[in-house]
Parts: sequence; C-alpha cells; structure tokens
Amino acid sequence: MEEKLRSINLHKVPNHIAVIMDGNGRWAKGKGMQRVFGHRNALTAIRETADTASELGVKYLTMYAFSTENWNRPKFEVDALMSLLITTLKKELPEFMRKDVRVNAIGNTKSLPKPAQKVLNNVIEKTKDNQKITLTFALSYGAREEIVNAIKNISKKVVNNEMEIEKINEKIINNHLYTFNLPDVDLMIRTSGEHRISNFLLWQMAYAELYFTDVLWPDFRKEHLFNAILDYQNRERRFGKTSEQIETNE
Ligand code: FPP
Repeated sequence: MEEKLRSINLHKVPNHIAVIMDGNGRWAKGKGMQRVFGHRNALTAIRETADTASELGVKYLTMYAFSTENWNRPKFEVDALMSLLITTLKKELPEFMRKDVRVNAIGNTKSLPKPAQKVLNNVIEKTKDNQKITLTFALSYGAREEIVNAIKNISKKVVNNEMEIEKINEKIINNHLYTFNLPDVDLMIRTSGEHRISNFLLWQMAYAELYFTDVLWPDFRKEHLFNAILDYQNRERRFGKTSEQIETNE
C-alpha cells in the first residue's frame, strides 16, 4: 500500500473526482442482511474516501448519494436513507470543521424531507468558509433534470429581456447548473462492476476519465482510491488534440 502511495504523482492528482457509490444492497445481501445494512456500512467508505482524497490534494469530491430515480425504492429504504443522511451530517459536522471540509449539495434538494433540508442547509452554511476540499453530495439528483432546470431558468431570463439568445454559450449553461460553483469532473469512479453513468453529471463529465471497479461500495478503501488515481495518471488526456500536440504543449 505504501508503495502504491509512493507511485502516485502528487502534482497530477485529479482536481475533481465524482463517485457512483454502487453495490450497497448486494453487499448486504451477500451477508444475509437487509439492504439498509449496506447503506449503513457505506459510511465508512465515504469517510475513508473523503479523508484520503483530501490528504492527496484532491480539491473536489462529489458523491452520488441519492438519485431522482431512488425515490421509487420501497418507502422503508427511502426513509432509512433520509435518516442516515440526517444523523450522519449532524454527527460529522465537528469533523468537517476540524478537517476543513466544505460541504455542498447538488440536486433538487427542495424535494428532500424538511428535516433533511434543515440539517443539510445548516452544515452547508457552517462549513462554507472551509478550504481543504469541497465534498458535494448529489441528493435527489438527476443530470437530465438538472439540464431541464437550467433551460427553464435561462428561458425565463430571455423572456424577461435579462438575456439575449445569442449570448447563450457553454459558460452560461454551466452557470445555471447545480454545479455552477464546481469545476468539470476529471475522474469518475463507479463501484460494483456496473459500467454505466446512470444520469450522473452528464454535462460535467464530457472529458472525464471513467474508472470502473468490481469492488462493492461498502468495501471501498484507501487502496482502491489509489488504484483509481494511478489508473487515471497512466492515461493521456487529449481533449480532442493529438498526442504530439499534448507532448509539445501546443
Ligand atoms: C447504491 O447502492 C447506493 C445508494 C443508492 C445510496 C448511497 C447512499 C448512502 C450510503 C447514504 C447517504 C448518506 C450520506 C451521508 C450521503 P445500491 O443500493 O443501489 O446497491 P445495489 O446496486 O447492490 O442494490
């Protein structure tokens, strides 16, 4: 593990990592337990990933905690996830302050139960000046819904003569997404062997490197994050240019 850490080039660490934390249900089932047991055990993986990312100098970490589609799960599971969110945020606030973590949320957070909104807003407000890493939770998030929402807000400005159609560009669209205050994603990690993006950060992942692992999310640890970052560092990001242009920095 130490050797793996030494192999990481600390000058080329991804600035923004996004994670689809998948496999909690299967992990629990494999142990003959209820799905919710998997969600509870996901918290250790979230904490370890955030701590390790922060120590390596990753500035933005975005975790897919609850999708717009997750509302369709059994009420029991949705309720359990919401109470897990509330208790975790409350409990972790002193740690976020100690570790200089700024907490942020993306998604249609107004659709969360009122107590969850209250705790979330409080943690966001209390941590807003923290600097080391921005930890964003995607909650009631769907990328298509995000884009629809942005189009509606831009259209309203056009109708009210606050914006000209000709002025609409990528930057304007960016500024109307839930992620307006976040940079593009550099590395996306998905656990549990599924090779899908599942409506996560579609716009923001246009040039992201995608990394898939069979590890189930509750088992995800430091070494797995090292593997993902090492894999990322071995790839050449060309952004549409040729290898020669990248080498000569054209
Ligand atoms: C995916 O596994 C995981 C989720 C849908 C929920 C992740 C959310 C949490 C761990 C809790 C949120 C709390 C905080 C503090 C952000 P799955 O249930 O889809 O697993 P499966 O594919 O094996 O069924």
